[in-house]
Amino acid sequence: MRLTRQHGSHPALERTGMLKVGRLGVLTGGGDAPGLNAVIRAVVKASHNHGIECVGIEDSFDGLIDPSRSRIVTPKDVTGILRLGGTILGTTNRGNPFCYPIGDNAVDFSSRCIETFHTLGLDAMVVIGGDGTLGIAHEFSKRGVPLIGVPKTIDNDIVGTSNCFGFDTAVAFATDALDRLHVTAEAHHRVMVVEVMGRYAGWIALYAGVAGGADVILMPEIPYDIEKVGDRIRAREERGARFSLVVVAEGAKPKGGRATVQEEARGGHLERLGGVGQVVASQIATLTGKETRSVVLGHLQRGGAPTSYDRMLATRLGAMAVELLLAGETGKMVAFHPPDVGTVPLADVVGRTKLVPPDGDVVRTARAVGIGFGDE
Ligand code: F6P
Repeated sequence: MRLTRQHGSHPALERTGMLKVGRLGVLTGGGDAPGLNAVIRAVVKASHNHGIECVGIEDSFDGLIDPSRSRIVTPKDVTGILRLGGTILGTTNRGNPFCYPIGDNAVDFSSRCIETFHTLGLDAMVVIGGDGTLGIAHEFSKRGVPLIGVPKTIDNDIVGTSNCFGFDTAVAFATDALDRLHVTAEAHHRVMVVEVMGRYAGWIALYAGVAGGADVILMPEIPYDIEKVGDRIRAREERGARFSLVVVAEGAKPKGGRATVQEEARGGHLERLGGVGQVVASQIATLTGKETRSVVLGHLQRGGAPTSYDRMLATRLGAMAVELLLAGETGKMVAFHPPDVGTVPLADVVGRTKLVPPDGDVVRTARAVGIGFGDE
């Protein structure tokens, strides 16, 4: 389908909103998170109700670098995707158009993206992504592209919003995994160490650990002393609890040490965390003499159907993004401020990470029910 048209020729441009939107681009960037499709669906349906045509930009901003990678998305195209994980538009967590890696060089494709934005006849964009994607969106916004960002990540580490869709689904999956591992740990009188995602934040580890009845949670915000972890497991043993469940966030680090990195950062690729679960499991086995196994939940946490909570949140954020653009708001991120959905300027969000407050109520609750963090 040919997508190019003269800017301003769409009948919906005659509408009376402060920002006249006839054609709206939508893209998904960064790692996939359950709920992305629910946002796309909400954006397309809400747009359709206002006579706005949606154009899906494929594979994040790559679809603006290469204009052939975009397509009209109609309400019919989004039928049935509410319950699907992944993203019908594709995504990537590399390829920042401002410094796009080609061989050993970094090329700035930002002007080409803006050109494509106009060639496609777009009036505005909805950019759904995590910190990296929202940072890119902010740069385009500063260069005059009207857009609204929608926060997405299973890590739940975006500032300015109490929750990101994808997080609840990841926590539900990790909790189910812990329930299963509990059974086998108890049967064999073993220690099971479960490594969960979350990058530099411990939200998934904390929430799944509390919901799944973990005995120890290790997370980046509270550096651990492995001796203290061993002490806690031995103390449980002395009390007759012959098994233990340890949840380790991939970004967890020992006191005075670094996070365990699987792959160092290199040209456009972020550092890849992972492996701390196995390290911790071996140390626990040595310290306690107990049989210990480790499991990495990995990308299983990102796949699968979004929970009803994530579907709701994603739908609310997507519909609100369209409302905001119609009201002439741009350069902002839709955000969940329970019980309402609101906004926060992208400038206040990018480059920052929402970490777990080590003395916050969830950590205090965890301690109150006997969960250790390897620090005392
Ligand atoms: O940000 C989401 C996330 O799943 C992190 O929890 C994890 O560290 C990272 O992405 C994994 O990235 P990739 O899919 O590139 O392996």
